[in-house]
Amino acid sequence: MTAAGYLPRMAVLDITTPYSRQTSFLYDRLIAPAVVPLIAPIEAEWATRLGPSARVLDVGCGGGQVAARLAADHPSYEVVGVDLSKDQVRRAQRRSPRLTFQVADALALPFPDGIFDGVYSIASLKHWPDVARGIAECARVVRPGGLLCLVEVERGCSFDDTLGFVRTTPLGRGPLLVPASAAFMAFVAGRGWHIDEARAAMATLPLDAPRIERHGGVALVLHGRKRL
Ligand SMILES: C[S@@+](CC[C@H](N)C(=O)[O-])C[C@H]1O[C@@H](n2cnc3c(N)ncnc32)[C@H](O)[C@@H]1O
Repeated sequence: MTAAGYLPRMAVLDITTPYSRQTSFLYDRLIAPAVVPLIAPIEAEWATRLGPSARVLDVGCGGGQVAARLAADHPSYEVVGVDLSKDQVRRAQRRSPRLTFQVADALALPFPDGIFDGVYSIASLKHWPDVARGIAECARVVRPGGLLCLVEVERGCSFDDTLGFVRTTPLGRGPLLVPASAAFMAFVAGRGWHIDEARAAMATLPLDAPRIERHGGVALVLHGRKRL
C-alpha cells in the first residue's frame, strides 16, 4: 500500500473510517494505557450512582480496556461494548472473554430503547459522522433514571494540558514527548469537542441536572441522569 493509501486507513485523515488492525494495535499500545487511569475517577463516580448491579454499555469501546476495568472493579455489572471496528472488537473480546462485545455503529445502536442502566462513551464522538445522532442513540438506550456519560477530548485544550496527558502515555517518556504532543494537538484535540458543542448537545438531551466538567486537562465530560 502507498503512503497516501496507508494514512487514511490509519484514521489520521478521515477519522470516520473504522480503526484498522494497525490503528487498533497502536491505540492499544500508545494511548489506551493512559485512558484507563484518566477515566478511573469518573468510573468510581458511576459506581456510586449506578448501585451494586447494573447493565452498562460502552459505545466505541475500542480494545475494551475501560470495560475490562469496570467489570473487574464491579463483578456484578453486566458490561457490553460496541465498536465500529471489528479489529477493536476482536481485541476487546480477547481481553475480556466473559464480557459481550459486538460490531455496531453508534449512529444505529442495535438495542431497544431503555435497556441499559448506564451508557458511556469515551473518546469516540469525534469519529462519528453525525455526532448529534450518535448522542441521541446513546440517550435512547439508557433507561429512564439511568446514567449517560460522554467523554471527549476538548478542542481548545492548551498545549501544556496536552503535554501533561501525553506524559502519561508510553510516548511521553523520551524525546518523542513534544512531537507526540504536537501530533495529539493537531490530529486528536483538533478534532475533539468544543465546549460550546458540548453545551449545545446537552441542551438536546432528556437529562435531569446535566453537567459538563473539564477533566484531566484534556477532556470534557457530559454527565446526566435520564428523566423519568
Ligand atoms: C479513540 S478510540 C477510543 C476507544 C476507547 N473508548 C478508549 O477510550 O480507549 C475511538 C473508538 O471509537 C470507535 N468508533 C469510531 N466511529 C464509531 C462509530 N460510528 N460507532 C462506534 N464506534 C466507533 C473506533 O473504532 C475506536 O475504537
